[in-house]
Amino acid sequence: MHRRELVDYNRKAWDHLASNDNQWTVPVSSETIEQARQGHWQIVLTPEKPVPQQWLGSISGADVLCLAGGGGQQAPILSAAGANVTTLDNSPAQLQRDQLVAQREGLEIATVLGQMDDLSDFHDQAFDLIIHPCSNCFVPQIRPVWQEAFRVLRPGGHLLSGFNNPVRYLFDSFEMQKGNLVVKHGIPYSDLRDMSAENRQKLMDENEPMEFGHTLTDQIGGQIDAGFVISGMYEDNWLTPEEPLTEYLDVFIATRATRQDPQP
Ligand SMILES: C[S@@+](CC[C@H](N)C(=O)[O-])C[C@H]1O[C@@H](n2cnc3c(N)ncnc32)[C@H](O)[C@@H]1O
Repeated sequence: MHRRELVDYNRKAWDHLASNDNQWTVPVSSETIEQARQGHWQIVLTPEKPVPQQWLGSISGADVLCLAGGGGQQAPILSAAGANVTTLDNSPAQLQRDQLVAQREGLEIATVLGQMDDLSDFHDQAFDLIIHPCSNCFVPQIRPVWQEAFRVLRPGGHLLSGFNNPVRYLFDSFEMQKGNLVVKHGIPYSDLRDMSAENRQKLMDENEPMEFGHTLTDQIGGQIDAGFVISGMYEDNWLTPEEPLTEYLDVFIATRATRQDPQP
């Protein structure tokens, strides 16, 4: 599958997940928006733990990019809390969820159909804050994502990202669904390269997106190499176990990366 085919395939897969009300596609309620307007709000980058408030600071009037963050969740909350919000996502259905909440609640959210590793729709230093919930498992290369995020952030701005612990990809995913932890793959991992053709066909028959397991060198070292200073980190897990691995470690990681430009 070449890049264009992967983009198209994962777009359809996420549109399909949205049509099935997958957890990551369910818009927030009017009550949540009302609370956010009153200054009481939280957002996630990973399934459960809210982003620490000190990672976010004052967002009133800030220019915020929700990167691969459609679904009617983070963007409308941040908009109701006073930020100028743009969402970029590869799925029209996910962007439509942000617009649905915006129209329902009288908010303004700019939505852009695009790729997380190509932010050429935005000029340099266009944003104060980037919210990048768990999504970089859907692209084969993540260093361009970090580089583009650095370019479009203003100096002193923050990139808040959630991503999968790569350990998740060591195991046979079909066996894992049956509760069995069978080590099968190395990291980096690619559904396109490392899964058997038969299992890949099963994924496609179920309209599941193609995933990639990235090394921590690319996840964390890649942010540092793009110019960021890592200024925060936590781990998170499913509250109700979705996979047997969650009994042994937290399977999600969140980082706060700060654009600190050298003094002239
Ligand atoms: C797990 S959802 C994250 C959004 C959700 N609001 C949340 O709370 O985590 C992953 C998102 O990544 C988007 N996505 C997948 N591949 C992408 C790509 N190449 N570029 C931009 N967005 C992409 C999907 O369409 C989906 O909306």
